[in-house]
Amino acid sequence: MKIKNICCIGAGYVGGPTMAVIAQKCPNIAVTVVDINEKRIAQWNDPDAEKIPIYEPGLSEIVEEARGRNLFFSTDVARAIDQAEIIFISVNTPTKTYGIGKGMAADLKWIELCARQIAEVAKDSKIVVEKSTLPVRTAAALKDILDSTGNGVKFQILSNPEFLAEGTAVEDLKNPDRVLIGGDVDTLEGKEAMDALVNVYASWVPRENILTTNVWSSELSKLTANAFLAQRVSSINAMSELCEKTGADVQEVAKAVGMDSRVGPKFLKASVGFGGSCFQKDILNLVYIAKSFGLKEVADYWEQVIIMNDHQKRRFAANMVRKMYNTVSGKKIAVLGWAFKKDTNDTRESAAIYVADYLLNEQAEIVVYDPKVTEEQIYSDLNYLCTRSEEENRKFVTVVDSPMEACAQAHAIAILTEWDEFKVIDWRKIYEDMLKPAFLFDGRRLLERDTKEKIGFEFYAIGN
Ligand code: NAD
Ligand code: UGA
Repeated sequence: MKIKNICCIGAGYVGGPTMAVIAQKCPNIAVTVVDINEKRIAQWNDPDAEKIPIYEPGLSEIVEEARGRNLFFSTDVARAIDQAEIIFISVNTPTKTYGIGKGMAADLKWIELCARQIAEVAKDSKIVVEKSTLPVRTAAALKDILDSTGNGVKFQILSNPEFLAEGTAVEDLKNPDRVLIGGDVDTLEGKEAMDALVNVYASWVPRENILTTNVWSSELSKLTANAFLAQRVSSINAMSELCEKTGADVQEVAKAVGMDSRVGPKFLKASVGFGGSCFQKDILNLVYIAKSFGLKEVADYWEQVIIMNDHQKRRFAANMVRKMYNTVSGKKIAVLGWAFKKDTNDTRESAAIYVADYLLNEQAEIVVYDPKVTEEQIYSDLNYLCTRSEEENRKFVTVVDSPMEACAQAHAIAILTEWDEFKVIDWRKIYEDMLKPAFLFDGRRLLERDTKEKIGFEFYAIGN
C-alpha cells in the first residue's frame, strides 16, 4: 500500500515534531496535524516560525520548510481523518486524577475520544497508529471501540511508540536508535499495515533500525524503556546522597562505573531529580499494571524509582534551608532554570516547581529566570499544586529576564536546569551584587567547585 495522506491527532511535543520530520523526509506524503486546541494550532500556523508553540533546536527551520507544502496544521479533525490512510494518535495520556487508579493509572479518556471520532468519520479502511505511550493491551480496547462503533470499515491497529527526548527531539527523530512497530503479525492485513508504516520510516531510517514485533511487546517496550532510563537516574541520585556523606564525588563514581561497557556512560548524571511529562507517569502506570496482575514485588521494585526521585527533590530543598542557618523566611532566593531540562520550554513535572514550592512553604521569596519559559507558565505550574493562593504565588514569586536581575541582592541561588548559558555567567559580578554570605546551590553539577569557592560563594553541589 502506498501512503499518500497521514493524519496525526494531537499537535503536542510528540505530534508536532514527529510529523514535521515525517513531512520533511517524505515530501510526497501530505501530513496533517490536528488538535482540538485552537490556540495551539494557530501558533503552529504562525507565519513567524519562531513562534510555534514548542521550542526544540532545529524545529522551526523544518516547519518553515515543509509547512504549506506537505505539512498542515488544522482544527478540522474529521476532515483529516477522512482523507488519511494512516492516523497517528498522539494525544496526552496523563496520570489519572480521579476514580479507580487515581494517581497511578494512565488516563485514557482522550485516546478513547480519538477512537470514537475515527470510527464515526472513517468511510474506508484505516491504519490507526498508537503513537502515545499506552498501557500494555490498549490496542485491544481500541480495536473493540473501532470495530463495534464504526461504519463496518476495517481497521488495523499498530503500536509505534515514540522514543524522542525533548531538547533533542529533531536529532532523535532524524537519527533514531530504533523505530519500533508492533502489529498483528499473525494476519496478512496486519503484516501489510506494518509494511506500510515501515516504508514511511524507511525513507530515512536504515531498515535494520526498524524493529517489528507483536503489539503487546511494542506497547510494553515503551514503558520498559522509560522505566530503565529513570531507574538509572534514581540509581545515581541515590549514590549522590551517599557521596555527600563519605567524601566521594558522584561524578567521579559515575565516570568509573559508566566506563564499564556493560553499564555505559549515559543517564548517569546526578541531579536534583528527573522531571518531564513521562518518566513518573509511565512508571506509575507500570506499577499500576503490575499491581493489577497481583505482582506486588514487581510493583514495589519500580515504585522505588519514584520514591527516590521525590526524596531527591525534597532533600535538595531541605539542604538549602539547613545550610542557610535553618531559615529562609523573608530571604530572596534566585532560581536559575525552570524547564525540566535544557533546550526545551516544557516544565511538566520539573524539579524546579517542587523545590520552589518547598522554599515558598518556608516563606522564602523566589525570583526565577529561565531563558525559554514564560512568566505565565511559571505561575500556572505553582498554582496547579494548589499549595497556596494565586495571589500569594504572585506576591512571593517574581519572574525576571536575566540571571543578573534574578540574583541581585539575593541570599542564595539555586541552579535547577542545566542551561548552557549558566556556565558562562559572570559569576564574580553576580557574587558582588548578592547579600553575604552568598550561597550557590548547584542541582545540576554545572559549575566547578574550586572557582566558585575562590570567588567567595558558600557552594553546594549535588553529590559532592
Ligand atoms: P501534549 O499534551 O503536548 O500534546 C497532546 C495534544 O493532544 C494536546 O495539544 C491536546 O490538545 C491534543 N488532544 C487531546 N485530545 C484530543 C482529541 N480528542 N482530538 C484532538 N486533539 C486532542 O502531549 P505530548 O507530550 O505530545 O505527549 C503525547 C503522548 O506521547 C503521551 O502519551 C506521551 O506519554 C507520549 N510521549 C511523549 C514524549 C515527550 O517527550 N513529550 C516522548 C515520547 C512519548
Ligand atoms: C524521556 C526519554 O529519554 C525518551 O526516550 C522518551 O521518549 C521520553 O522520556 C518520553 O517518553 O516522554 P525526556 O523526558 O524528554 O525523554 O528527557 P530525558 O533526557 O530523558 O530527561 C528526563 C529527566 O531526567 C530530565 O529532568 C533530565 O534532567 C533528567 N536526567 C536525565 C538526569 O537527571 N540525569 C541524567 O543522566 C539524564
